[in-house]
Amino acid sequence: MCGIVGYIGEKNAVDIVLDGLKKLEYRGYDSSGIAVVKDGQLQIRRSVGKLKNLEENIEKKHLKANISIGHTRWATHGKPSEENAHPHTDPTKSIVIVHNGIIENYAELKSGLEKEGKEFKSETDSEVIAHLIKKHYKNNLLFAVQETLKEIKGSYALGVICKDEPDKIICARQDAPLIVGIGEGENFLASDIPALLSYTRDMIFLENGDIAELTANKITITDIENNVKKREVKNIKWDCVQAEKEGYKHFMLKEIHEQPRTIEDTFRGRIYPDEGRVYLEEVKLSKEDIKNISNVYIVACGTSYHSGLVSKFLFENFAKMHTEVDIASEFRYREPILNDRILVIVISQSGETADTLAALRLAKSKGCITLAVCNIVGSSMSREADHVLYTHCGPEICVASTKAFTGQIAALYMLALDWACRKESLSKEELKKYLKELWEVPVKVGNFLKQAESVHEVAKKFAHKRDFLYLGRNVNYPVALEGALKLKEISYIHAEGYAAGEMKHGPIALIDDDMPVVAIAVKSRVYKKIISNIEEAKARGGTIILIASESDKTALDKGDNVIYVPDCDEFISPILSVIPLQLLSYYVAVMLGCDVDQPRNLAKSVTVE
Ligand code: AGP
Repeated sequence: MCGIVGYIGEKNAVDIVLDGLKKLEYRGYDSSGIAVVKDGQLQIRRSVGKLKNLEENIEKKHLKANISIGHTRWATHGKPSEENAHPHTDPTKSIVIVHNGIIENYAELKSGLEKEGKEFKSETDSEVIAHLIKKHYKNNLLFAVQETLKEIKGSYALGVICKDEPDKIICARQDAPLIVGIGEGENFLASDIPALLSYTRDMIFLENGDIAELTANKITITDIENNVKKREVKNIKWDCVQAEKEGYKHFMLKEIHEQPRTIEDTFRGRIYPDEGRVYLEEVKLSKEDIKNISNVYIVACGTSYHSGLVSKFLFENFAKMHTEVDIASEFRYREPILNDRILVIVISQSGETADTLAALRLAKSKGCITLAVCNIVGSSMSREADHVLYTHCGPEICVASTKAFTGQIAALYMLALDWACRKESLSKEELKKYLKELWEVPVKVGNFLKQAESVHEVAKKFAHKRDFLYLGRNVNYPVALEGALKLKEISYIHAEGYAAGEMKHGPIALIDDDMPVVAIAVKSRVYKKIISNIEEAKARGGTIILIASESDKTALDKGDNVIYVPDCDEFISPILSVIPLQLLSYYVAVMLGCDVDQPRNLAKSVTVE
C-alpha cells in the first residue's frame, strides 16, 4: 500500500515529510515524491527506487517550505517510473495530489477529460484526481475537492495542496486509511501511525467519507456536502515497532487480518455483479484468443502452487478449459508439450521466484501465450509475461504467505469467470450469481476473523504435537496442502496435506491419538465422502480438528474440535477454509516461541534455483 505524509506549520515541512516517509518504508514501495508550496509556486521532486534517491534529488535543489505532502508508491496502475510516481499535478501546476487506493472509474473519467483536451503525463489512475480538482477549482480548494469526490468511484486516501492557498492541506478518506496528527501550531497527515509518532500521539482516524481541511492551527472535518463532522481525538500509546504492525504482534497476524480489505481491493474495479461483468484491464486476450487455447498449464511454487491447484477446478468447471498444474522446478525438466495454442499461467507473489521465472521463459521460447498473476508491479514476471493480472494485496512482509494466497485465488476466480462467460460455458445469470458470491467474500472473511480467538483455543490443545495430517477433497484438497505448509514453515512441526480419499492407501497407518487430523469438511458435493474419511480416522484413535460450514448442525458429532466458517458456494470455499488454517499455524508457532515473520532457513522470495 502507498504511504502518504503531509505537514503544515512553522518547521521545515520537507524534513518532517521525508522523515515520515522513511518510517513507512517497511510497507514496501517502488518510487517516491514530495511537493511543497514556496513563494507562491509548487515545487515537486520525484524519484524511482529508494527514498535516498529522492533525498539526493531534493538536496540539489535545497527545498524548504512550511507546507508539504509526500508519497511512497506501491504501483497498482502503471509501472514504477518517475512519471508515474506521486505527487501528480494538474496541467497548470497549481494543484498537486498524493493518492493511495484504486479509482475504479478512472478510465471513463480520463477519456472524458481527454475529450476536453486535457493531456496526461502518467499511466496512473491517480492523475485524474488532480485534473478534476483543477476543473472544479473556483478559488476554494475544499469545495473543489468535495465536487471532485462526487465524481469518483473507488478507494482513496488523498492529500491535496494548492499554490494559491498555501495555508492549508485538504485530505480525504474512502476505504483507505488516513490519519490526521494534531500538534501545537502545526498539523500532520499520514496513511499510517509510525510516520507521526515522533511529532504527536494525538491523532484523528478519518472515517469513510471524511474530508479534512488542515491549517497550522485548525482542523475542520466535513463530508462532500460540507456537513461538519466531529471526530474523536485518540492518544496513541504504541512505540514505532508496534505501530508498523498496527498493534498486531507479528506481520503475519496483521496480514491475515488485512485479507477482507486485500480481497476486496483485488476485486475492486474489476467485478460488477449487478451487470454480470468482469473487467480485467491488463489481460488483453480476445474471445477468439481464449477459444483458440487448447490447454492451460499453471506453474508456480509453494503457496502459489496451491492457489494454482484451486484454480484448476475453476478453469475446468467454469471455463471448460483443460488445465494442468505443475510445480515450477518440475515443469522445466519434464519436457512438457508446449506450442502456440497453450496458455501458461505463472503465479508468483514476488514475481521473482527463479524456478517459476525459468518456466515462464521456457514457455515463451516455445511460443506459448503467457500470463503472470503477481502482487508486485514491475517484477520480472509481470514484465516478461505477455499478460499480467495483479493481486492488489500490498506488500506481504511475512515470509509465510497468507493474503497473497487469497488474493491469488480471488484473481484466478475472476479470470475463470470472465473466460467462462466469453466462451459461453457459463450463462450471464450464473456469472451474476458467482460474482455476487465473490463480492460477499470479504465480509464473510471479516466475520470469521472476529472469532479468531476460537482458533487460538484449539491451537493451545495441540501446540505440543509433533505430527499433523491435513485432509481435504476436491477444491479443498489444495487448502489441506496449504494448511500443512503454513504449519511446517513457521512452527517446524511435521505436517502433511493429503487428499482425504488417499488415506486408506497408506497414511491411515500413521494415525493415532498423538497425530491430530485437520479435516476440511465444508458443505460440498464431496461432503459425505470426507465425513466417511473422518470417521475412518476417528475409528483409529485420530483426534479430529474439523473445519465445517456454519450451517452444519451435525459437525460436533464428527470433530473433537470444530471451527466453523461462513457458508458459501463450494467453489468459493477455499478462500474461507484457509483462514482458520493460517491462524492455527500462527498461534501454534507463537506458543512454540518461533520467529513467525522470519522462519529459519526461509526467504520471502527464492530467487535461486
Ligand atoms: C509460502 O508461505 C512460502 N513463503 C513459499 O512457499 C512461497 O509461496 C513460494 O516461495 C513462492 O513464492 P512466490 O509466490 O513469490 O513465487
